[in-house]
Amino acid sequence: MRVVAVMNQKGGVGKTTTTCNLGAAFARRGTRVLVIDLDPQAHLSLHLDHDVNGGKPSIYEVLVEGLPIEQAIALTASEKLALVPAHIDLASAELELAGEIGRETILRNALAELAARDLYDLVLIDCPPSLGLLSLNGLTAADEVLIPLQAEFFALHGISRLTDVMEKLRRRLKRGPQLLGIVLCRMQATTRLAREVEEEARRHFGARVFQATIRQNVRLAEASSHGQTVFAYDAASQGAKDYAALAAEVAKCWEGAAAPASAAAAPAAPTVATAPPPSSAAGSAGGAGSAAPSAPETAPLAAAATAVPAAVPAALPAALPATAPLRPPAPRRSPRRPDASAN
Ligand SMILES: Nc1ncnc2c1ncn2[C@@H]1O[C@H](COP(=O)(O)OP(=O)(O)OP(=O)(O)O)[C@@H](O)[C@H]1O
Ligand SMILES: [Mg+2]
Repeated sequence: MRVVAVMNQKGGVGKTTTTCNLGAAFARRGTRVLVIDLDPQAHLSLHLDHDVNGGKPSIYEVLVEGLPIEQAIALTASEKLALVPAHIDLASAELELAGEIGRETILRNALAELAARDLYDLVLIDCPPSLGLLSLNGLTAADEVLIPLQAEFFALHGISRLTDVMEKLRRRLKRGPQLLGIVLCRMQATTRLAREVEEEARRHFGARVFQATIRQNVRLAEASSHGQTVFAYDAASQGAKDYAALAAEVAKCWEGAAAPASAAAAPAAPTVATAPPPSSAAGSAGGAGSAAPSAPETAPLAAAATAVPAAVPAALPAALPATAPLRPPAPRRSPRRPDASAN
């Protein structure tokens, strides 16, 4: 069972659309897919037409009440695509878990039980647009991270925080998340700015940027508002073709490489809650979060990451050489204002 976190702390870049439709594309290829909605906004659940107020168990009960994750799995219209939905209650989970020991590995432990049952080949986690405890649970549970990137000003700058945290986790966990790749989303290839950001991303991240890009396509937005995957809504649309192409490219990446012994399947390292609880740091005036106004969402995750003991190793995985950290370059100021650069 492969576990992939779809993550970018920037909002509205295409995380949920990618989780839903990449999951659906893999399901169409015969892969047994589970998508997990880790965002209190519950957009992924709504995208898959789940009744979020229907009283069914959600990821909240898994994280906060210890419900086995299998009991929170909901069916979707697609036979091979299952969902663990979210609920607005999830917004309070960070506070409720503040005093819990091992709070950053709850999802990882829950997925370890699922991995043992061999019910799914691929798990995609839709992370919220923040670097708080929920995202940390997603990262800690993941073998790999897929970063949707919208081609806009400061796009690359924003992911440096995320890649920093991934590096920290890799150093401190037995198996930290690898970078699966970066996918350019909501691409408007006709604009000069989009082309410049794409060039910059490819120059810096090279082969880690997928060739397949997800173009701006209204069918993708319409599909979500109809509670359908783009394949159910309009299988002939450009959006459906783009996600099918992305799935093919990702599958090719994995070809020949055995599915990792999932991070979730690794024995959970006991954790020591030495750092201040992420939620209290973020929530209280004068806490750690307010000490760094330029990067308020970084502090909680960085603090939580340090709470994970260095169960292992000095050495980073070979695929991510320590000498080539994943920091994107500082953004080059464009000679044009972003909104003036469109053709
Ligand atoms: N390729 C696309 N073409 C057109 N619309 C898109 C595309 N991708 C996403 N959208 C739309 O853009 C909006 C934001 O997308 P999405 O919800 O996937 O982003 P997100 O990163 O999950 O946002 P958040 O950070 O709030 O969770 C949605 O209305 C979605 O329908
Ligand atoms: Mg989302």
